[in-house]
This record gives sequence, C-alpha cells and structure tokens, in this order.
Amino acid sequence: ASEELPSTDIITLTRHVLHDQFRLGVAVTGDLTLLLIAIQTTSKFIATNVRKARLINLVGLAGETNVQGEEQKKLDVLANDIMINALRASGKTAVLVSEENEEAIIIDERNRGKYCVVFDPLDGSSNIDAGVNIGTIFGIYQIKPGSTGTIHDVLRAGSEMVAAGYTMYGSSANLVLSTGSGVNGYTLDAALGEFILTHPDIKVPSRGKIYSFNEGNSVYFHEPVVEYLKSIKYPTAGAPYSARYIGSMVADVHRTLLYGGIFGYPDDKKSKSGKLRLLYEAFPMAFLTEQAGGVATTGRVRILDIVPKSIHERCSVFLGSKEDVQDLIKFYE
Ligand code: AHG
Ligand code: MN
Ligand code: MN
Ligand code: MN
Repeated sequence: ASEELPSTDIITLTRHVLHDQFRLGVAVTGDLTLLLIAIQTTSKFIATNVRKARLINLVGLAGETNVQGEEQKKLDVLANDIMINALRASGKTAVLVSEENEEAIIIDERNRGKYCVVFDPLDGSSNIDAGVNIGTIFGIYQIKPGSTGTIHDVLRAGSEMVAAGYTMYGSSANLVLSTGSGVNGYTLDAALGEFILTHPDIKVPSRGKIYSFNEGNSVYFHEPVVEYLKSIKYPTAGAPYSARYIGSMVADVHRTLLYGGIFGYPDDKKSKSGKLRLLYEAFPMAFLTEQAGGVATTGRVRILDIVPKSIHERCSVFLGSKEDVQDLIKFYE
C-alpha cells in the first residue's frame, strides 16, 4: 500500500551471510564473513571507478597484453590491482588467481589466511568503452588441511568451492552470491555503501524462452550446437526462442538466472577448448547456476566435476534452465 513506511530493518549482505552461517550451525570463525566484506569493498571501489571512467580518463587500453593474449584495458588493470590489494590486506587469503596474472599469487606468511580466491577482476572488457554492463567474477576455495597455500589448493574441482559470486556494474551494482545454500542477490545502496538483499533465494526458471550465444561463431560451431540452435529457432511446435547476447558473461548469466533460458560459449573448430576460463569464469557461474536449480555443462560433462590442470585452462560452457540445457545435452548424446 502507498501509505507503507520504508523498512527500518534492512538486510545487508554481511548480516545475511552471518545469519546463514549461524543457521547452518557451522563453526563460525568470521573469517569467510571478513573475506566477503573485503570483496564487497572491492566491488564498491570498482563500481565507482566504472561510473566515472569516461570522466577520469579510465577508458581505453592500458598498453599491455595479458597471458591470454588479450590487450588489457585500463579498467582491467585497475580492477585487478584493487582486488589483489584488498584480498591480500584482508589477511584471509593464501592463494590468488587472476585472469590478468600469468602466475598464481602466493600470499606472504604475515598476511596469510585460509582461503583462495580465483577471480576475473573485470569481465566484459569489450563493453567498457560503450558503457555496457560489465562485472567481476569470483570463486573461493578453502586451503586443503595442512597446506600453507600452493597452486594445488586451486587446481581442484569446482564442486569443492565454498562460495562463488559476481558483481554486475549496470544501472545499479548487483552482487549475486552463493555460499553453498542457495543464491541471493544484493543491490548496492550507494548512499549507505551497503549491499542490500533484494533478490532472496534466486531460482532459475525450469524453462526459458531466450538463447544467448555469439552466433557470429556459427561457421565454427560443432554439429550438436548447430542442430540445437536450429531446433529452438525453427521449432516444430510452439514459438521460436528470442536471442539476447551482451558479450559480458556476467550480464548474460545474470539475465539467464533471473529470466531463464540458455547461455552458451561452446568450444568450436577454431577455439578448440572454447573461450571462457574454467577457474574464474566457468566454475563460479556453474556453482551459482546449480545452486539456483539450473544445469551447467560442457555438453559432455558437468562443469563442476572438471579438475583443472592449469590455472588459465579454458572450457566449453552451457548453462541455464534445467530443461533447456538438458535439450542441448541430447544433441551431444
Ligand atoms: P573478459 O572481458 O574477462 O576477458 O571476458 C570476456 C568473455 C566474457 O565476458 C564473454 O562472455 C565473452 O568473453 C564474450 O566473447 P565474444 O566477444 O567472443 O562473444
Ligand atoms: Mn580479458
Ligand atoms: Mn571474463
Ligand atoms: Mn576479465
């Protein structure tokens, strides 16, 4: 009703995560909460720079090429530095893996904690200069018992992650997070400087009406993908699917979680392992998708079952509504 007063009992991300941990009865040390506070701070810091980018000469290239062979944008470099500094200073991390750093970063003993964070500091680089949605993706592992933090603590199946999430910098900054018991979405209240629970318990619809692929790669696509796309564009019954492709994984996955449908970046005849990176793109998004009741596959295997052999390994990705992804899998069988 219009005479209702605004709520005086807002649920911040930190409050929500703490509540969840108590509810699950885990031995709460507060370490994960503190790590997530550090990550929230990086998202606010990156968000404010994204908003000002055009005004403070933060658009365009930085002049270096990363290990993936991509030209780094200024915001890629800035977001990466923000993440590394804050995660190291949190005292809660042992190993960091970033898209922008060739080697894993092993945290010095003085600052060392028990978590490993794998991240894509700025996702959707090609969209930066046009002001289109971009994001940050992260996944969190706990170091293995007895380990002081080595690369082996992150070369593990995605199903072993303890938390994963992303922040999307769009019309508002949205942080979507799972600590392994469902998915929740929070919106940054810039005046408060807090992420407020706005999307509790996100569930991806069991079927959608949207497909999200870079069809400019069609000529390289393998048979199962070509045939699947044909089946949803020229259906024998019902309406054809709508196409939506932003080219920022964060934005395309965010829409897929909320509206349903299928997002795909397959391996093909040109990109033999696909484009998206397993550790800090595919795993966190697969983790969130499954936690929201959806499916995430390479077409042949469950993404979260893959054990990475190297930190920048790539993989084929399809994720989204259960029934839509299962339809796609049938074309692979
Ligand atoms: P990044 O900007 O972190 O390098 O990631 C780019 C990724 C991802 O955001 C997106 O899904 C995909 O690349 C888009 O690739 P195309 O331009 O080939 O469609
Ligand atoms: Mn990149
Ligand atoms: Mn990316
Ligand atoms: Mn990136």
